[in-house]
Amino acid sequence: MITSKPLNVAVFASGGGSNFEALAVKFKDSPSIGVSLCVSNRRTAGVLERAERLGIPALVISPSQFTSEKEYVDALLSSLDEHGINFIALAGYLKMIPSGLIDRYRNRITNIHPSLLPAFGGKGMYGRRVHAAVLDAGVQWTGATVHLVDEEYDTGPIVLQEPVPVGGADTPEKLAARVLKVEHRIYPMAIELLQSSDFEIKGRRVIIAEHSG
Ligand code: GRF
Repeated sequence: MITSKPLNVAVFASGGGSNFEALAVKFKDSPSIGVSLCVSNRRTAGVLERAERLGIPALVISPSQFTSEKEYVDALLSSLDEHGINFIALAGYLKMIPSGLIDRYRNRITNIHPSLLPAFGGKGMYGRRVHAAVLDAGVQWTGATVHLVDEEYDTGPIVLQEPVPVGGADTPEKLAARVLKVEHRIYPMAIELLQSSDFEIKGRRVIIAEHSG
């Protein structure tokens, strides 16, 4: 368990925000987890409309608004503090998370990636590119991964994965749509698992304690 208090989640997103909505809807009536803030780095991101429709406060905070990384991190931290945020879920967030934020929220930041990491991850591997690379490689399975966030792209300890078969008639778009459905299901599951379990991090492994009875 990350904290005995309920998780008060901020979702960071740069794009359409379907994962943001899946999390917000799933946890709407949960006593132990709630999505109470959306943070985007893009004024035109579709996620902002979703946040408005769902009545969840949203902020646009981008490194380009600040003259130094320190100012940027301070602004992020004070906004998160104002909303009482104790957990961050990245969902299609295309900016590197500054180390000041990772230090403060160590093992309390997750990301979702549309492949079975460590395959098809890393800098520049996002959106359609991931699925095109999967098809180019000829692999028969892809999937979705939820992992804890560290200082690199897509390398943090893996919390949950689910495979998705690749079909002969797949295009990057068809594959993306099938993987996205799985993402919407496993992202809330992974956060629930972290909230409700005792776990430890050993190297890159997340070891969830087995409960008897
Ligand atoms: C998802 O495929 C997620 O895995 C990746 O970015 C995409 C975001 O989609 N990190 P959405 O904005 O949540 O619809």
